[in-house]
Amino acid sequence: MSKQLDAAQSMKQLQTDMHWKENIVYEIYVRSFNDSNGDGIGDLRGILEKIDYIADLGVTAVWLSPIFDSPNRDYGYDVIDYRKVHPEYGTMEDFDELLQALHDRGIRLVMEIVPNHTSSDHPWFQEALKGPDNPYRDYYIWRAGDGNGNPPNNWTSFLGDSAWKLDEESGEYYFHTYAAHQPDLNWDNPKVREEMANAMDFWLEKGTDGFRVDTANVLSKDMSFPDTDDTERLQGSGEHFYKNGPHIHEYLRELNDRVFSRYPVFTMGESSQVELEDVEKYTLPERRELDLILMIEASKICDDPQDMWQSKPWKLSHLKDIMRKWLKDLHDEAWIGLYLSNHDHVRMVSYLGDDVNHREQSAKMLAVFLMTLRGTPNLLQGEELGMTNAHFFNTIEDIKEQQALAYYNQRVNEQGEDPETILRRVLKKNRDHSRTPMQWNDEAGAGFTTGKPWQRINPNKSEINAAEQENDPHSVLNLYRRMIRLRRDHPALTLGTYEPILDDHEHIYAYLRETDEESWLIVLNFSRTATQVELPSDVRARLSDADCAICSDESKLKDLSRGSAELAPYAYFVFKLG
Ligand code: NOJ
Ligand code: CA
Repeated sequence: MSKQLDAAQSMKQLQTDMHWKENIVYEIYVRSFNDSNGDGIGDLRGILEKIDYIADLGVTAVWLSPIFDSPNRDYGYDVIDYRKVHPEYGTMEDFDELLQALHDRGIRLVMEIVPNHTSSDHPWFQEALKGPDNPYRDYYIWRAGDGNGNPPNNWTSFLGDSAWKLDEESGEYYFHTYAAHQPDLNWDNPKVREEMANAMDFWLEKGTDGFRVDTANVLSKDMSFPDTDDTERLQGSGEHFYKNGPHIHEYLRELNDRVFSRYPVFTMGESSQVELEDVEKYTLPERRELDLILMIEASKICDDPQDMWQSKPWKLSHLKDIMRKWLKDLHDEAWIGLYLSNHDHVRMVSYLGDDVNHREQSAKMLAVFLMTLRGTPNLLQGEELGMTNAHFFNTIEDIKEQQALAYYNQRVNEQGEDPETILRRVLKKNRDHSRTPMQWNDEAGAGFTTGKPWQRINPNKSEINAAEQENDPHSVLNLYRRMIRLRRDHPALTLGTYEPILDDHEHIYAYLRETDEESWLIVLNFSRTATQVELPSDVRARLSDADCAICSDESKLKDLSRGSAELAPYAYFVFKLG
């Protein structure tokens, strides 16, 4: 039997006509999950050691952050070999063992693939640097400057510098959407498309179940590279010329024809700056591009659009508007993935919740929220414990991630701004908040490592850790397990319509999830104060207190089923309606 069929066989129990909709995904940020050999860096054998923990969560898929060989300036989003496991993370044998162990437990393995750019240390780029005649030159995007010593246009990268870097040797500039050490591949070159399809094929042939496709909607650029008038914007200006660009659908369709359609594959496209019609084009099944687009908007709710390092307050009405768009207005057959936290954002219990006075309760409320929305949920490691932001970071030395360091460097060292102000911003929003090591227990290394961890461990490991929560039936962890089970057992929570109610309420977020067979009502208090709620009479008529599947406070059930109650901060109720 071919490997392809083997894989299909072992995953049979998970295969349904709509498996991409039914998945519940657990994001493992490998570097911070579990270190098996004491070097302070999480690794594949570390994941193997925790395989039963993962299975007990009930998730149906694991998405691994990038594990390919890389100089790690962007922790694996800067690849030098698309077919090699980074030695820090283990060997190909470790990978095969992990894949098998997950499959034995009916869990898919989704790899991160980074098709838009390589590391500048990748052999292709090193060849390309040899000059315009090198066969690899056209793997990347090169242009002459404007003749006055300036780059070809005025776009900025997502790190806030010019999106072009001069190669002194040839006098030409190359294009980089992200850092200068992450040169963009030229997807208009058929050889690049073939290389990337072959790399994906390599992993699928091993039995891997799919990909989170990094920055899936930026592969095709407007190659005339016009200047942008979006100059107020500090990071990623000009992006409307390359997000959802001229050939993007053609290239994704080509990948699907060449690769995805040949395997029982699950594909999640990471994409920002998408509107309804874009997502419909990417995900309508008959168009054969991707299974879903990961919806980023909710996790950016606190970002100032002109400068992502400046925060703005968030409002529940804004969150509701975002969800209405993606869960209700999107075409029925199109599909999104949803997350509250991932490795690129702050931890949402610290932002949408209250990690000071109501940490446990707000983490639970967010668990209920994530697991009852329409869209494939993605859960970041540690979210199931209610892990928080790293409030203990206090110097720039605590920060390891490149975006924050680049911002600090530009503002303080190049532009001479006040270091305290910039540090405050960076400490608030950096991506390391979600990358601190997993808190397995309250030992010195949090059960993550016996060595010196690559990133500092949150001292709140003594209150927040998996060992403690394991046997507490009321822990955040056990609520996640129950919510995941509930979602898996009741298709209406996955496939049902999403109908918001009480839309104008400032604190209460309530909605119905319905199919012909089942109806669910979810009522959440998104506020740190007790809040009065009055349910609409038609909903009340269908409600009985006996039908609460999951609730934070049974003493309120009678009042709620009569239609009106005062809900405690971050209260949550999931009712099955008659
Ligand atoms: C999105 C990834 O999630 C992020 O971590 C990375 O830095 C950029 N894409 C660039 O690859
Ligand atoms: Ca290790």
